[in-house]
Formats: sequence, structure tokens, C-alpha cells
Amino acid sequence: MNIIPKLKKIITADNTETFLNETVGESYHSQTGAVEEALKKYAIPCRIREKAKTGKVKILDVCFGLGYNSAMAISEALAENPHCEIEVVGLEFDPEIITKIQEINPPIPFYGDYKKLTPETLRFQKEKVQVKVLLGDARETVKDLSEDAFDAIFFDPFSPKTAPEMWREEFFREMFRVLKRDGILATYSCARIVRENMSKAGLLYDDGPIVGRRGPGTIATKWVF
Ligand SMILES: C[S@@+](CC[C@H](N)C(=O)[O-])C[C@H]1O[C@@H](n2cnc3c(N)ncnc32)[C@H](O)[C@@H]1O
Repeated sequence: MNIIPKLKKIITADNTETFLNETVGESYHSQTGAVEEALKKYAIPCRIREKAKTGKVKILDVCFGLGYNSAMAISEALAENPHCEIEVVGLEFDPEIITKIQEINPPIPFYGDYKKLTPETLRFQKEKVQVKVLLGDARETVKDLSEDAFDAIFFDPFSPKTAPEMWREEFFREMFRVLKRDGILATYSCARIVRENMSKAGLLYDDGPIVGRRGPGTIATKWVF
């Protein structure tokens, strides 16, 4: 029997919307601020503005959900360099959450364009920005991606307690494979097991920013820089 997720819209502390997945028992963003999280836990630690200055940025949005993290990164990159070429690949297995993009209006400049995404239309191009979502289990779809391809990886599964399969060494090995030599992975979790599995996969980690919760996030790279 398929369990149909019950998605309930909620407002987070920065007054921006997200959904609570009542089947999983978790929300899609931090209750301390959904849009704040996209900027401060992902775009800033992955140095998106700095990378945009080079003229080309490629982003992997793991567990795409409503797409806040990559939509924010595109907005930041274009604010820094309006001529930047940007490619986003999103990995998501639940078509239901993609339909919810139509029901929300976060204050993310590029988000209006994300409304072109539906479970039937999983890609669009606007000038030099390309967005594509690969629907399926990220642990499988990632295998189709080229190595050394991404400047930034936004790693945003449900929590290690709820979705331990997403935080294992094997999946982090794939993250290592697809990350560029000078690329940066960011995630909200600082759990010991997460960091141990990153290390086993060859990633070097450090504290990410502390945003609205007690612990820091984690940033990871392939090499010291
Ligand atoms: C914390 S939410 C991500 C929120 C998202 N980054 C956003 O900005 O809305 C976790 C997401 O992981 C997705 N997910 C869970 N297991 C997955 C899997 N094996 N492969 C791909 N996506 C998965 C869920 O459907 C959910 O959308």
C-alpha cells in the first residue's frame, strides 16, 4: 500500500512558507526560517556570489523539494553577475512536493520561474539559466551525473534520524565523485555520524554557519583550500 504524504502549509519564523510532511513527521525547512535557511545555510557557505563572478556556476540540489535552495542560489548569482551561466540539477523522488511549488510565493527573486516546474515538465531554460529535476531516488539518479561536475552541492534530505539511508558513506562517495576539485557541499546537519560518513567517503568537513538553531551546519570539500 502506498502511503500518501499529507502536506500541510506552515509559516516559519522569518514569515516564509514551507510544508509539514505529516507522514514523515518533518517539515521541508527549518521552522526558524525557510528562506533564511536557503540563503545562510546553502548559498552563502557555498560562496555562490564568488563563483558567479567566474561566469559559470553548476549546482546540484540534492532533495530538491520546493527548490528554495537552488532558486535562492540562482537569485544570488544573477545579482552578482547578471550574465552568469547557471545550471541546476535537482534530485527529488516525490512528485507531490513539486506540485506544491504552485501554492507558495517565497520572497526569492527567481522563484517565479520555478513555477514552470511540474511533475510533467521537469526542466526549463531562461536565458543563460537551466534548471532540470531528475525524478527518482537520488541514490540512483546521481549515478547518471558526470564526475567533477558541480561547483556547489546543497545536501538537504530529511534528518539523519528519519532518513538514515541518505546520510551513508555510499551516498557521500557519490557526492565526492560529482563535486569539482574546488567545489563546496553544504548541509544543515552537524551530526557525528554524518561527519564520520563524509570522512569515510573522502570529504573534508568543517563547521558551517550557525543559523537559528543550536549547532552549526557542515560544509565539506574534496581538498583543503
Ligand atoms: C528536507 S526536504 C528538502 C527541502 C528542499 N531542499 C526545499 O528547498 O524545499 C527533503 C526532501 O527529500 C526528498 N527525498 C526523500 N528521500 C529521497 C530520495 N531517496 N531521493 C530523492 N529525494 C528524496 C523528499 O521528498 C523531500 O522533498
